[in-house]
Amino acid sequence: MLRLPVKSEVLTQPFLDYLAEQFQLNPLGVHGIDHWLRVLSTGRQIARRISVNLKVIELFSLLHDSRRWNDLDDPLHGQRAAEFCEILNNRWFEADEADIRLLRTACRYHSVGNLHPNATVQACWDADQLDSGRMGVAPDRDKLGAYLEYHEDLVLAAIERSSQSFFS
Ligand SMILES: [Fe+2]
Ligand SMILES: [Fe+2]
Repeated sequence: MLRLPVKSEVLTQPFLDYLAEQFQLNPLGVHGIDHWLRVLSTGRQIARRISVNLKVIELFSLLHDSRRWNDLDDPLHGQRAAEFCEILNNRWFEADEADIRLLRTACRYHSVGNLHPNATVQACWDADQLDSGRMGVAPDRDKLGAYLEYHEDLVLAAIERSSQSFFS
C-alpha cells in the first residue's frame, strides 16, 4: 500500500488503493501514482490562482492515466479513462452532470495535444503537461494555457517537482 502523501478533496486512502490495484502498469512508473499525485499537486496550485473546478482537476489527475495498458503508445487510454470516470461516479466520488461532462472531456482528449477553451479542462491538461520533466522532456509551452504566462513561479515549481518522487 502506498500511503497517501498529499491533501485532496476527493482522494482517500481506500480510493488510492483501489486505483493502484486495478492499474495494469508499474505504480511507480512514468504514468503511475507518483505522476498522478504530482499532477494533483500542480492542479491544486493552479486552482488557487484562477477560477476552475477543483474537484474535476483532482479527479482528472487520479484517473487520466489510470487505464493505460502500456507506457509507450496507447492512443485509447484517454477514452478508457473517460469511460472509467462514468463507472466510478457515485461509487468512489460524486460528480454532477456538469462535472462529469468536464471530467470526461479532459480525460478523453488529454493526449491529443490541443488547447481547450474551458479553463478547467485546460488546467487539467496544463498540470499533466507540466509533469513532462519526469521523462526528461521540457513542457511544450505552446500547449500551455496563456494564463500561465502570469504564473511563471508555478510553472517552475511544477518543473522542479516533476523530477521528484513522493515515495523515495
Ligand atoms: Fe495520458
Ligand atoms: Fe499524464
